[in-house]
Amino acid sequence: MTSDSPVVPYVVGTPLTDSAVRVLLLGAGELGKEVTIAFQRLGVEVIAVDRYADAPGHQVAHHAEVVDMTDAAAVTAVIEKYRPDFVVPEIEAIATDALGDIEARGVSQIVPSAFGVTATMDRERIRRLADEDLGIPVPPYLFADSLEELRGAAETIGFPCVVKPIVSSSGKGQTVLRGPQDVWAAWEAASTKARVANTRVIVEGFIDFDYEVTLLTVRSIDPRSGGIITQFCAPIGHRQLDGDYVESWQPQPMESYAMASATSIAARVTGALADGQELGGRGIFGVELFIKGDDVYFSEVSPRPHDTGLVTMASQRLSEFEIHARAILGLPVDVTLASPGASAVIYGRRDDEVIGFANLAQALSVPETSLRLFGKPMATPRRRMGVVTATADDVESARHRATDAASLIRVVSVSAPTVDEEQTTADGSADAPSAVGAQDSADEARTVNLRPAAS
Ligand SMILES: Nc1ncnc2c1ncn2[C@@H]1O[C@H](COP(=O)(O)OP(=O)(O)OP(=O)(O)O)[C@@H](O)[C@H]1O
Ligand SMILES: [Mg+2]
Repeated sequence: MTSDSPVVPYVVGTPLTDSAVRVLLLGAGELGKEVTIAFQRLGVEVIAVDRYADAPGHQVAHHAEVVDMTDAAAVTAVIEKYRPDFVVPEIEAIATDALGDIEARGVSQIVPSAFGVTATMDRERIRRLADEDLGIPVPPYLFADSLEELRGAAETIGFPCVVKPIVSSSGKGQTVLRGPQDVWAAWEAASTKARVANTRVIVEGFIDFDYEVTLLTVRSIDPRSGGIITQFCAPIGHRQLDGDYVESWQPQPMESYAMASATSIAARVTGALADGQELGGRGIFGVELFIKGDDVYFSEVSPRPHDTGLVTMASQRLSEFEIHARAILGLPVDVTLASPGASAVIYGRRDDEVIGFANLAQALSVPETSLRLFGKPMATPRRRMGVVTATADDVESARHRATDAASLIRVVSVSAPTVDEEQTTADGSADAPSAVGAQDSADEARTVNLRPAAS
């Protein structure tokens, strides 16, 4: 497909030939890896780009490129090298100027649009879009550019409140302020942890929500009308710890009034991100919402698969990754929930260049569980290294299964094999970390050898 091609490919050719439909992923982490696999299953040629070698998506793509994605010239160069039909951003920290230029010159389609990618990485733009342009309920908010302004803004919003850098993700630089005494530390945290050098922060009223959801929202071409339709996956509930999700489940029950508000908000926000392009803005979006009684507050939106949506690999007929790939290609999607499901994150739990995972057989003995190990080359205690998904007849049982199985998995050092690994007890409980994301138990800190464990 070339720059004067239609918005969707009519023919999917053969990868690694001139006929190929090509997709370039900016970001090749665990979500990018699954998107890559989904595209490859549809016969698409995939170029995976990340800032370090051997990223999870690199390991399964046709082409792997290491690029500093905050460098506009480098992003432009890699896109021009492959001239893909679609550029699919999978992370937030991207030189968005380059994407605007690529879109304007018609080199490639940006998913969902250059505007959508730019607006969603900037808390100010997306917040003003939702509040000022669309009239959507959001937590009360103000912006501040200095410590003094932050003091004033926090007093105006009231305590507790939340301070976040304008550009950041995964809870980085984010602080909940209980009173004026927390303002200085919040300013320090926000200005040192922001993704880009920028001290501007948003101050938000703390919403004491009943629960929060990710509403996966899909914009795709309706095969009957030929126009765009918006569909919603069943709401995903999740639990966050220090800005990262620990477990998620689907469906999260919602009262019908709240559900109606949620879908209305999600349709309007995602529609605005299409930037008026005909048949544009296709793909999946993770719309993050806080629910308190009948009130629904819009928090933020990812114009891409959402980490809490990893659960859909187990719970939906089509995972969020397959839906994304199909919607981008202009193919029909369905959002059918196949079973109640849950996901639980496996953390690195240690600083190590190379880690291994033990006790997998015991973990996967928990009924209806599946495992994804992302293959990340470096571990840190809070780095997400894998995920367990589970299904069951109800969400509670699925959550138990996922967290039980994840907590049975032991993270071990395999960098300098010297000491034999001890056998675990039959139920794995003696050596297992006490909870998902728990710190190393003493035995995990030892080095083990790589011989197969006796069962
Ligand atoms: N105003 C608020 N009131 C109550 N809780 C909040 C508020 N803002 C954020 N949180 C909590 O912190 C979590 C992370 O916030 P947010 O999504 O804004 O940060 P993030 O850095 O973009 O995280 P991620 O990239 O993981 O989505 C939310 O999911 C929610 O649990
Ligand atoms: Mg978020």
